[in-house]
Amino acid sequence: MNISQEQYNKLPAEYKEYFEPLTNRHPTVKSLAVISWLIRLVSKKGDTVLDPFMGSGTTGVACKLLKRNFIGIELSEEYVKIAEARINGIPNTLL
Ligand SMILES: C[S@@+](CC[C@H](N)C(=O)[O-])C[C@H]1O[C@@H](n2cnc3c(N)ncnc32)[C@H](O)[C@@H]1O
Repeated sequence: MNISQEQYNKLPAEYKEYFEPLTNRHPTVKSLAVISWLIRLVSKKGDTVLDPFMGSGTTGVACKLLKRNFIGIELSEEYVKIAEARINGIPNTLL
């Protein structure tokens, strides 16, 4: 999502991970801002996005926040659990 550093600083702690991957142990976790920009560029609300290399689920987080359906495929069970926790943990107040 595109928010300013000032807005980010004011966010409650539990919301911050949806804007920056600060607590994620995946070694190549992508920026939510960049993935969100890409998703907006190539899809519209209600579309379905497939990420066959889901990793820790940044694409899924962006899809949920941007109201896209999401299908993720991931080899590592550990990363699937991280992705599920991130996607399912998005507070309704952000949707
Ligand atoms: C570059 S990372 C993706 C990072 C992700 N965009 C994120 O933000 O966390 C690529 C992922 O693809 C997974 N992967 C590699 N080969 C795969 C395969 N054949 N099928 C499914 N997942 C695979 C890896 O385990 C790794 O987590």
